[in-house]
Amino acid sequence: MTNIKSFTTIGLDNLLTEFSQVTSFRKIKQMNLTSLARVSFLSTSFTSRTLNRSLAYRPISCSSLSHTPTSLNPNLPLFLRPPTFTATVSDLKKWQNWAKSLALSVGSSFADSDNGPDSDILHRELNWLIEDTLESPKSLLLSEHDAVLTLRAELGDLYSLWKQRIEKRRPFQYIVGCEHWRDLVLSVEEGVLIPRPETELIIDLVDDAIKQNVELKNGMWVDLGTGSGALAIGIGRILGDSVRVTAIDLSPIAVQVASFNVNRYNLQDKISVKQGSWFDPLSEFEGKLAGIVSNPPYIPSEHINGLQAEVGRHEPLLALDGGENGMKDLLHLCNGVALMLKSGGFFAFETNGENQCLFLVQHMETVHHGRFYNLKIVPDFAGIRRFVTGIRS
Ligand SMILES: C[S@@+](CC[C@H](N)C(=O)[O-])C[C@H]1O[C@@H](n2cnc3c(N)ncnc32)[C@H](O)[C@@H]1O
Repeated sequence: MTNIKSFTTIGLDNLLTEFSQVTSFRKIKQMNLTSLARVSFLSTSFTSRTLNRSLAYRPISCSSLSHTPTSLNPNLPLFLRPPTFTATVSDLKKWQNWAKSLALSVGSSFADSDNGPDSDILHRELNWLIEDTLESPKSLLLSEHDAVLTLRAELGDLYSLWKQRIEKRRPFQYIVGCEHWRDLVLSVEEGVLIPRPETELIIDLVDDAIKQNVELKNGMWVDLGTGSGALAIGIGRILGDSVRVTAIDLSPIAVQVASFNVNRYNLQDKISVKQGSWFDPLSEFEGKLAGIVSNPPYIPSEHINGLQAEVGRHEPLLALDGGENGMKDLLHLCNGVALMLKSGGFFAFETNGENQCLFLVQHMETVHHGRFYNLKIVPDFAGIRRFVTGIRS
């Protein structure tokens, strides 16, 4: 793992190597290599673009609000903004040194208190912030101190963003407005869950299911609780042209952000994003769905207060809180798939791991006896039994 050293204490060649290491690391993160599956993505020391979270789930059952949004105005991720600002290399380096010393002052205090990021991770994030902000990041290393560089954010905003990162523990992904997930770069902002690396595996599970039964490519797939649209977009890209995906979320912000991401990947003809509660917008598809995926809120309510500050203070409760034992939504979804999937239809749910998986499978084998086959518990990258999959009889 790249250990980001101080730019001021190492030579130019080393600096360039470090920049290219950071860049390739981001590329690796984008590649979704199954071969990396056993590397612990849950560890903050592996990547900060992958906040350690080990979420679970949900609440708030709401009325049906089924409608498609008409205005799309989420915040533009930093890397997509026009480079309309300028600063001199010396002013930027002054900011960079200030930001590095702030990161250094954190030491392991966040890690010790709630498994938050340590100084090394924060330094790595700082380099990513520079990468997203500067039109030509290497010019910070190569140019004379009085050279003027073009930026995607004002220098003053960079000071305030980095203060928010350290002092408020605002997640890095909300600072830069995006997260790298599989081969996608998804827009995220407050109100939308930052998609997690373990969730990437659901796409591989869908891919496997389709290889077993190509008929699944022809039907309607649904991503329940779509958040940034990660699963819907991932599925939309691996399924053929005949597939249609509906992405549903109760949160209007999630619906806006998911729609933005769907449009950015030019999948609007294949994926429709709807606001509503779970199966409510799908009444005409009863018994007709080819596939259902969901990463619902599954954190037990009693664990919410103990979450890492980045998660507990900043990510939406609606995406996290799963009620008592974290099972409220998962059980609702299990009962729904029995009704909504067509025969041969596939489902994959993410859980908080272990006991939730066991409970779900037992629930499906007893309450929905005979309605499913091939019920499986699948581990995540860290070996935690995380997903439940199955096929409707
Ligand atoms: C754990 S997040 C998952 C987001 C996204 N699928 C991902 O994996 O990154 C759960 C999502 O479920 C949504 N949600 C919560 N309650 C819901 C409900 N009753 N109906 C639909 N979506 C709901 C939340 O807004 C949130 O976006």
